[in-house]
Amino acid sequence: MENIERQDLLAAYYTGNFLEQGKYRQEYSLVEIKKRERDLSPLLQRLPADILRFLEIAGDLAEKYQIRLYLVGGLVRDIFLNIENRDLDLVLEGDLETYIRELAEVLKVEYTYNAWFRTGNLALPGGLNVDLAGLRREYYRYSGALPEVEPADDILEDLFRRDYTVNTLVLILNEGKWGCLLDYFNGLEDLREGKLRILHPFSFLDDPTRIIRGARLASKIGFTFEEVSAALLKEALTEADFSHLSLERVLKELELLFATPINPALFPLLRNYPIFKLLNLEVEIGEELPEQAEELEAYLAELSEKNYNIEEWVLRTALFFADAGEEISGWKLRSDYKDIFLAYYRYKSLLPELDRDLAADELAAKLKALRMEELLLLLVKGRGRRIKENILRYMKELRDIELKINGKDLLASGLKPGPLFREILDAVYRERLKGSLYTREEQLAYARDLIRERGGNKE
Ligand code: CTP
Repeated sequence: MENIERQDLLAAYYTGNFLEQGKYRQEYSLVEIKKRERDLSPLLQRLPADILRFLEIAGDLAEKYQIRLYLVGGLVRDIFLNIENRDLDLVLEGDLETYIRELAEVLKVEYTYNAWFRTGNLALPGGLNVDLAGLRREYYRYSGALPEVEPADDILEDLFRRDYTVNTLVLILNEGKWGCLLDYFNGLEDLREGKLRILHPFSFLDDPTRIIRGARLASKIGFTFEEVSAALLKEALTEADFSHLSLERVLKELELLFATPINPALFPLLRNYPIFKLLNLEVEIGEELPEQAEELEAYLAELSEKNYNIEEWVLRTALFFADAGEEISGWKLRSDYKDIFLAYYRYKSLLPELDRDLAADELAAKLKALRMEELLLLLVKGRGRRIKENILRYMKELRDIELKINGKDLLASGLKPGPLFREILDAVYRERLKGSLYTREEQLAYARDLIRERGGNKE
């Protein structure tokens, strides 16, 4: 019975009726909504000079038009936490298009504007990224849908569509009110206590990616989910249907979660909140994972100086996908990412073969098809000293070996085009792997001997 009622409630919630009544959803708030204002202008002085200067210019322009401009979201949260952040989110109460055009003109930078979403962006020098938005209200037609956007009446409504109270703090940027903090949802207290609190009971169902955003804040900054939010999160993970949620959106959040080294705090968190269910994956967080992650981070740190362009977030994510090969095979995804996600599944059968003493050319033959990320995954997941030694030996000594001669040289040496080309180049490569034929001259001489031996000369 309880379930039926719950389904009815959800059905009612995600229908047109509810869309019309959207304004009243604040009645469902889990938080007491009350405007608290405080002068926090000294806090803004903590910001780097270029951000401060930009905010002053943006605030002055808004004041000229007598429209409110707010600094919102992650940066406000991070000012309190003393964490550097160069992504700015601004919300404007008036005509965004005119404002953004003029602001770009004043700053002499390029801008983009999206009339449909009422959002814009400025890319400033020094890697400063500025997102601007008009006041917006958002509705979800079904769980996991992209939101429908319409203009909101005031900043409170705009804030109510957001994920956690710690992300609802805003600072006014207009002169006269410069640095005035608006805290409608008691976000400052939650921030001080390190609590992640959603704003209404449907929050995780509206947008399940908030679950991963929460896991990121929890594992990186040490926040914990407040009791009711934690219960609703668990309920969403056990009962919600994530089939309408796009793979792309979930991966975008995983990219943020895994962009930086994995913090050991993530593992107990993932046992408690199995976030990979958003991808319909059952991922067991085994005892071996923290150690493997630590090992992976050590290798990544070691390799960071080299120019391998390792897709770090994909590799970190892949650590959790070891047993999910079948499901991942069906994903529509960039093939290089998919290869990395599938690497362990595809190549684990190689591991026993690597548990032997292997000559350099045998070893290279087994591993040459693997990209760096795939090798790293096998390395940290493979058990046994010899397996690891072999993979490391290939990575460090053999992988980067390239021949100094090519097919053109063989042609110039009189070899007729045909299958012998590949055979001879392979033979030179094998000798090179064994530790001889370092120079181009040595390689050429060896190749020419082979050509003569095999009688491959042109008539
Ligand atoms: N937001 C949300 N649900 C999402 C994504 C974003 O409610 N799935 C809200 C959050 O309140 C967030 C704001 O939109 O503060 C802006 O989003 P974004 O720029 O992605 O996040 P940041 O504020 O920069 O926060 P973070 O630094 O944690 O990424």
